[in-house]
Amino acid sequence: MIAPSVSGLSEASNVQTAKCFGRYERKPGMHILHVVGARPNFMKAAPVYRALAAKNHKQTLIHTGQHYDTQMSGVFFSQLGIPEPDENLNVGSASHAQQTASIMAAFEPALLSHRPDLVLVYGDVNSTVAAALVCSKLGFRVGHIEAGLRSFDRTMPEEINRLLTDQLADILFTPSSDGDANLAREGIDQDKVFCVGNVMIDTLIRYLPHAEEAFARFKTELSLDAFGLITLHRPSNVDDPCVFVPMLKTLDDLSRVLPLVFPVHPRTRSRWSELLNGCNAGLRVVDPLGYVEFLALQKHAEVIVTDSGGIQEESTYLGKPCITLRENTERPITITMGTNTLVGHNWDMLRQRFHESLNGQRKSGGSPPPLWDGKASMRIADILTN
Ligand code: UD1
Repeated sequence: MIAPSVSGLSEASNVQTAKCFGRYERKPGMHILHVVGARPNFMKAAPVYRALAAKNHKQTLIHTGQHYDTQMSGVFFSQLGIPEPDENLNVGSASHAQQTASIMAAFEPALLSHRPDLVLVYGDVNSTVAAALVCSKLGFRVGHIEAGLRSFDRTMPEEINRLLTDQLADILFTPSSDGDANLAREGIDQDKVFCVGNVMIDTLIRYLPHAEEAFARFKTELSLDAFGLITLHRPSNVDDPCVFVPMLKTLDDLSRVLPLVFPVHPRTRSRWSELLNGCNAGLRVVDPLGYVEFLALQKHAEVIVTDSGGIQEESTYLGKPCITLRENTERPITITMGTNTLVGHNWDMLRQRFHESLNGQRKSGGSPPPLWDGKASMRIADILTN
């Protein structure tokens, strides 16, 4: 199904929306409650919050506290103009089971006190599935933004979160048509599914001019001319010494060819501080960056090496070569239509792709995937309002 244009929904879409909400009359001024918790949620919720505010819906924002450092959370609220959360559940870090359970236990009374018409959850983090499960147990309607993505790798905690959240959701907003196909295959009623495009790209487009300003400052601070960018945080890459040590050695070697900026996730920093400190000066290990600063680096990097999901999408939009240190991706469109290449843990292939990127033998990308146009959140607001 192709999403309706921003200029107006088709009659069929209106009926379809009404169907999945179980009624046919338009309800003005709904109360919508957003649940966010971890870094990749914030840039997705920001444009949706803004688009719903423009339609005069009452909104409540709950932060689960899954991420709590200023650099992992606070800076995104200030940079992206998201209002202070109405409540912070302060769950913090723990094992997956404990963290998910803590979010559920803390979110249940919050949900019962706010009693919204609809809860929106984002992406695939533990906060997403925990909130969706509470809503569904209590009979509150829940919408999933960034639905339908599948890596088909159930060893990834995020894949379990995606599968379960999509089964629980009453309305599902997909970023691309592969998401629609995945949901159809899993038997999800197509009346509940809307392909709206990529809300994270809405934020990227809005903040690109700010990023350009930030880059001027950065360039001097980090003495950057040509450089590459690294991000790594997945347990499959950073927990096992048999993986992390040769990976870092390869990146250390490559940073002698091209300086590499490496903003380090707290879990990676705490686990490997000694090894990271021992790298050559070309590998610039820095603290996690704010949204605008990181976007600036992505925009100007020669090549990006990552294991993040969102960065595969952002680099595709920006037309930057992206080498992904994973065996699979839940975002295949970044390979078929974008600049992304998977190399898994094949360090020779990493070297080869890296050199190819620098020698101009790179995937060119072309135009962004359909509906990655800065208007996805407006489509969501239109669908929910009509
Ligand atoms: C979570 C998401 C992952 C997402 C990533 C982005 C899940 C299952 N995983 O992984 O999909 O790509 O966020 O960063 O939800 N920590 C801090 N400060 C913080 C937050 C975490 O120091 O603000 C440290 C703690 O030591 C913690 C560890 O990072 O134990 C992991 O945090 P956690 O939220 O459990 O998972 P992420 O690896 O961040």
